[in-house]
Amino acid sequence: MEQLMRDFFLFLAKNKTLTRLAKKYGLRFGAGRFVAGATLESSIAAIKKLNEKGMPVTIDHLGEFVDNEKEAAEMTDHCIQAIKAIAKEKLDSQLSLKMTSMGLDISDELVLRNMRKIMDEATKHNVMITIDMEDYSRCGKTLDIFKQLKKEYDNISTVIQAYLYRSLEDVQALNEYQPFLRLVKGAYKEPAKVAYPEKSDVDKNFERLIETHLLNGNYTAVATHDDEIIRFTKELVDKHSIPYDQFEFQMLYGIRVERQEQLLQEGYKMRIYVPYGNDWYGYFMRRLAERPANVMFVLKGVFGK
Ligand code: FDA
Repeated sequence: MEQLMRDFFLFLAKNKTLTRLAKKYGLRFGAGRFVAGATLESSIAAIKKLNEKGMPVTIDHLGEFVDNEKEAAEMTDHCIQAIKAIAKEKLDSQLSLKMTSMGLDISDELVLRNMRKIMDEATKHNVMITIDMEDYSRCGKTLDIFKQLKKEYDNISTVIQAYLYRSLEDVQALNEYQPFLRLVKGAYKEPAKVAYPEKSDVDKNFERLIETHLLNGNYTAVATHDDEIIRFTKELVDKHSIPYDQFEFQMLYGIRVERQEQLLQEGYKMRIYVPYGNDWYGYFMRRLAERPANVMFVLKGVFGK
């Protein structure tokens, strides 16, 4: 039953009509629990509150399914404005982005041109940019563009998904770039041809990736809400005396807030991924797919408390 619910929400996440309607009608159905605001301005208070607690963030202007040059240019400009706002408001923040929003599905030339504009601005203000990883069909291309940009800019990182069979090889192949990597389980619906269907295998692979990247001496962001993976990371760093400034934990805005604070109190770096923007629908559906129990929360949002 739970698997059916997951598949249903992942199916809904891809629906273009619902995506357009959601944009039009604004943050609804309890999405405000996971999305800081419809604009960056309305999200700044929430970001500052996290910073004041001692939690750095990475902000993400939500957006998917860009299939024309004009929209890609607008999304690129949004990123540039966000970098400027980080600098102006003195936020302790990185920026995460999805390259499909910058034209990845249109052409390599376009996405590279847009990414360089963003990277130039980010370099000027010393802001780290992380390229989120999208579905499997974009993984190879995303990594190729990441490698290209990493040769030109230091302040760029990307994401590796533990559910993909290819990921351990990718982490090894990326080692020559000594990249900052965010390691995650993976949020999209992928076939067994390319991704481990069983959670236990994903978890095992996640641990292998964390161990490999950390022991290769690289900066590692362990992005998870899973206590077992967090425990594994803590034990690994203690066992190998890995300095606390070589890794961080990351969690999503609004998810396991007490655990976030606990890790911070224990002395770990805890970064919060803060999404904002009116294109919240796909992101919200993926969060519901991860934890169908959240549907109860949404129903309360629809029908009142
Ligand atoms: P898992 O889903 O196994 O959950 C473990 C436990 O955490 C659950 O039992 C529950 O207690 C709690 N939990 C998990 N989700 C919850 C929720 N929605 N509400 C309440 N409790 C919840 N994916 C991707 O494909 N590309 C990317 O670029 C990124 N980027 C990214 C950044 C950051 C900072 C995070 C934290 C995650 C991502 N992800 C991602 C998403 C990631 O792939 C994955 O889908 C989610 O993190 C859920 O997996 P967990 O590791 O949390 O474990």
